[in-house]
Amino acid sequence: LNPGKPEPYRLRNPFTPSEIAGKPEDFFGRSEELSLLEASLERSSVAIQGPIGIGKSSLLARGLLLMDGFASAHDCKTVIAVGDRDVDSVDSAARLLVESMIEVDEKSQKLKFKLGGAEWESGETVRYFTEGRHLAVLKRLVEKETLSLLVAEREYLLLAIDEADKCPVPLTRLVRSLLTHTQQQGVGNVRFVLAGVSPFFQEMVEEDGGIARFFRRTISLATMARGEAEDLMAAKLSALAEGVEADGFGIEIDPNLVSRMIALSGGHPHLLQLLGSHVVENENEDPDGILDSRDLVNALSRIAYEDRAQAYNSTIHMLEVNSRLEALRTLLGDIAPGFPTRITRDVALRAVGRDVLQWFVDRNILSTPGDREYGLVDEFLRIRLKMDDEANEATAAEIEQEILSRGWLDSPYDQRYLEFDED
Ligand SMILES: Nc1ncnc2c1ncn2[C@@H]1O[C@H](COP(=O)(O)OP(=O)(O)OP(=O)(O)O)[C@@H](O)[C@H]1O
Ligand SMILES: [Mg+2]
Repeated sequence: LNPGKPEPYRLRNPFTPSEIAGKPEDFFGRSEELSLLEASLERSSVAIQGPIGIGKSSLLARGLLLMDGFASAHDCKTVIAVGDRDVDSVDSAARLLVESMIEVDEKSQKLKFKLGGAEWESGETVRYFTEGRHLAVLKRLVEKETLSLLVAEREYLLLAIDEADKCPVPLTRLVRSLLTHTQQQGVGNVRFVLAGVSPFFQEMVEEDGGIARFFRRTISLATMARGEAEDLMAAKLSALAEGVEADGFGIEIDPNLVSRMIALSGGHPHLLQLLGSHVVENENEDPDGILDSRDLVNALSRIAYEDRAQAYNSTIHMLEVNSRLEALRTLLGDIAPGFPTRITRDVALRAVGRDVLQWFVDRNILSTPGDREYGLVDEFLRIRLKMDDEANEATAAEIEQEILSRGWLDSPYDQRYLEFDED
C-alpha cells in the first residue's frame, strides 16, 4: 500500500456472468416463459430444456419465486435440488429432495420441515431416513396428512431439480414412482419442475415412454428477444453510470457499443453478461473514461478461449466426430456476413441439405428465429471457429477488429438499431 497515491477509481461491475439471475432485480425478459411455466404448473409437471448457459437455472429460480408468492397470489412450497452424476439410483435421486426438505432428530424421533412448517413424529420415517430409503421417506412426505402440514390443499408442493441432464434415468424412476404414489393417494398438488441441458427430457422419455404423461409441457429456452436483451443492457449500464455519478465521477458509454454487444451475443444471456462484464473489467484495467469497442476487443478471445472454452471444445469435438464440422463452416462462411448470424432457409438448404440442417437444430447449434431463416444459438461458436481458422495467419487483434466491424456494419439486425439510435 502506498498512502501517498490514491487508489484509481474502479467501476463496480453490474454484470453477473457467473451467477444465476433468479432474483427479480437480476432477472430480465422471459415474461412469456414465466407465464407459460405458471400456467403449465396448474396442469402438470414441467421440464425446462435448452442449451448450455441459455438461462434455465435463472428461469427455474425466478419461476419458483413467483410460485412462492413473490408479487403474485401464489403460496406454493418449493424445494430446489441440484442433480449430479453420482445420483445412480432412485433412492439417491429422492435423497436430493429429502435433504432439502426435512431435518431429522434421531434422539426425539422427530422430523421437521425445513420449508417452514410443522414438526411431526414418525419413528418409521426416521428409520427409513437412517437406512437410506429416501424414496420411502419422500413418499411419506407427499401423503395427504403430512403434506397438509406443509401446503394448503389448493396450492402446490413444487419439487424442483436443476441439472436434470446429469442423471435423467434415476430421475425418470423417481418421477414415475412418486407421482404414481400421489395419484393412488388422491393427492393432486405435487409437481416436479426439472431443468437441464437438452435433450435430457427425450432421454427420460426413452427410458420410460409413459413419463410424458406427467409432463404436459416442456419449455424450450432459446435466446432472448432483441427487446429483452436491450432491457438487460440498458438497466445494467444505467445502474453503472448512476453508481459512478453518485461517487462523484463520470463515465461515457458509446451507444454503438451497446448495439454491438447485443448483436454479437445474438440475445444469448450468458454471452450478454460476459461481454458486459469484460468491457467493464477492461475499462478498469486500462481506463480512458469511455466504454467503447476498444474495451470490447479483449472480450472476444477471452470468451471464446477462456470463459466458454470448454463448451466450444466439446461442441467442436462433437461436430468432428459426427463429420459435421465442414457443413457448419460452409453455412457460416460467406453466406452469413453479419452478427447475429442469419442464414436464409433456401440458401441453407442448397448448401447442406435438409437432414443436416435438422441435425444442427436438434443439437442446439442452429436456431430457427423466423420461418424463413436459421440463426446460431451461440454466436461465439462462429467467432471461435473463425479465430481457430485464422489463428496462424492474422493476429488475434485483427480478427477481433474484423468481427467487431462486421457486428455493426453488415447486419440487417443492426441496421434497425442504427435507426433506433438516431430517433
Ligand atoms: N433472464 C435473465 N436475465 C438476466 N440474466 C440472465 C437471465 N437468464 C440468464 N442470465 C444470465 O446468463 C447466465 C447463464 O444463466 P443460467 O445459469 O441461468 O443458465 P443455464 O442455462 O442454467 O446454464 P447451464 O447450462 O450452465 O446450467 C448467467 O450469467 C445469468 O446471470
Ligand atoms: Mg443451470
